[in-house]
Amino acid sequence: MYRIAPSILSANFAKLGEEITNVIESGADIIHFDVMDNHYVPNLTIGPLVCEAIRPLTDAMIDVHLMVEPVDRIVPDFAKAGANIISFHPEASAHIDRTIGLIKEQGCLAGLVFNPATPLHYLDHVLDKLDLILIMSVNPGFGGQQFIPEALNKLRAVRKRIDESGNKEIMLEIDGGVKVDNIAEIARAGADTFVAGSAIYHAGKDSDPHRYDTIVSALRAELDKV
Ligand code: DX5
Ligand code: ZN
Repeated sequence: MYRIAPSILSANFAKLGEEITNVIESGADIIHFDVMDNHYVPNLTIGPLVCEAIRPLTDAMIDVHLMVEPVDRIVPDFAKAGANIISFHPEASAHIDRTIGLIKEQGCLAGLVFNPATPLHYLDHVLDKLDLILIMSVNPGFGGQQFIPEALNKLRAVRKRIDESGNKEIMLEIDGGVKVDNIAEIARAGADTFVAGSAIYHAGKDSDPHRYDTIVSALRAELDKV
């Protein structure tokens, strides 16, 4: 029931294909794909071409986290490139309901992302249309930041709303500063899907070839305690 989603932002980009294959073989579930535009967030990463290039390497879901503004123009490109989930920030879309509809029309699961200071009222009229809610536990833009504890309260509030909605299929994802020493507490607050970039990719960087079995097992062992 718990899913581990390594963020490839912290992978070795010179060996990206291998990094993806290895992390999934090491027991991770989902590839988290961070898209930054140097406009909505102060960093620039990867786009649909890279998504298309990695698509044949794995059957795992590709979870595209769009930190871009505007959102809509790029959605079909990611759908064509093989994304399974596309999430966006409500502040970056002029018409949130339309963007959710667009993602679903393109055959993908739709997610809405909440920055640390973004209120949950954006869920009010669209919760039933969402497949995933992503709570940011850092300000978006960079890997390797500290987990912001207030995210736990937010997770509890969203978990309650999901349970009350009756649609328990909605995934509740956390992103930012997830480590072995806090993943259990995060799960207790209601998350079921855990993005981890630096915690996973830095743990394997000295092994040759890069393997992530130990860190993925350690994260799962913590989740087993919940
Ligand atoms: C931050 C990204 C995250 C990031 C997480 O804007 O959305 O997915 O890669 O990295 P860690 O796990 O290192 O905090
Ligand atoms: Zn992310």
